[in-house]
Amino acid sequence: MELGIHNLRKRYQNEVVLDIDDLTIEEGVITGITGPNGSGKTTLLNVIAGIEDCYEGKVLYGGKSYSDEIKLKTTLVFQKPYLFRRSVFDNIAYPLNLRKVPRDTVQEKVREIGNLLSINDLMNKKGHQLSGGESQKVALARAMVMEPELLLLDEPTASLDPESVVKIEKSLTEYQKWKGCTVVIITHNIEQSRRLCDKVICLERGKVALNGVL
Ligand SMILES: Nc1ncnc2c1ncn2[C@@H]1O[C@H](COP(=O)(O)OP(=O)(O)O)[C@@H](O)[C@H]1O
Ligand SMILES: [Mg+2]
Repeated sequence: MELGIHNLRKRYQNEVVLDIDDLTIEEGVITGITGPNGSGKTTLLNVIAGIEDCYEGKVLYGGKSYSDEIKLKTTLVFQKPYLFRRSVFDNIAYPLNLRKVPRDTVQEKVREIGNLLSINDLMNKKGHQLSGGESQKVALARAMVMEPELLLLDEPTASLDPESVVKIEKSLTEYQKWKGCTVVIITHNIEQSRRLCDKVICLERGKVALNGVL
């Protein structure tokens, strides 16, 4: 899903935190958003995700305004994910169960994503008993299992050890190629953007300071 951002201004109190005239995010690739703390990365992702809707300007999804249809095709993973006090399996299966997906298919899809992210050994643990890094992996699995057209990730590897970071980056690349979805990922690690992203947008004080290929 191509994203078009036009004359976007977002203020908190009187401070302008986003100021973007025109920005296109390409369909079917991984786009990274980088920039210093407080540069507006999370705010921009929340605007795109439709959970921050108080702003001036327009965000278009494949040329269309935000709607219930777009909402169903979009998933956001927060930097600090919230998991239920249920098993990891139930946490990942939750969005599929909500959609009344048949039990066998749920089993199969959860296992598939569990394999991809190497978390099948966590399936019987409780969501609230996981480490920060494990929670991030489970939240990513819960997002992937829905097979969104637009996958939005806010620093999904921030709490992971270096070995897990590399593994998750590989899984994410593999997943994106497999499903062909559009991925927007916030990272303030330039090396990670280089490894992972087809395109990179760098924000500085709410403005696009760089937009291109690293
Ligand atoms: N709910 C809020 N109320 C007031 N100011 C906010 C709020 N959320 C973010 N900000 C401010 O907006 C700016 C951008 O924040 P954010 O998008 O979280 O930056 P980043 O994710 O790049 O670190 C910061 O100056 C931050 O303090
Ligand atoms: Mg942030």
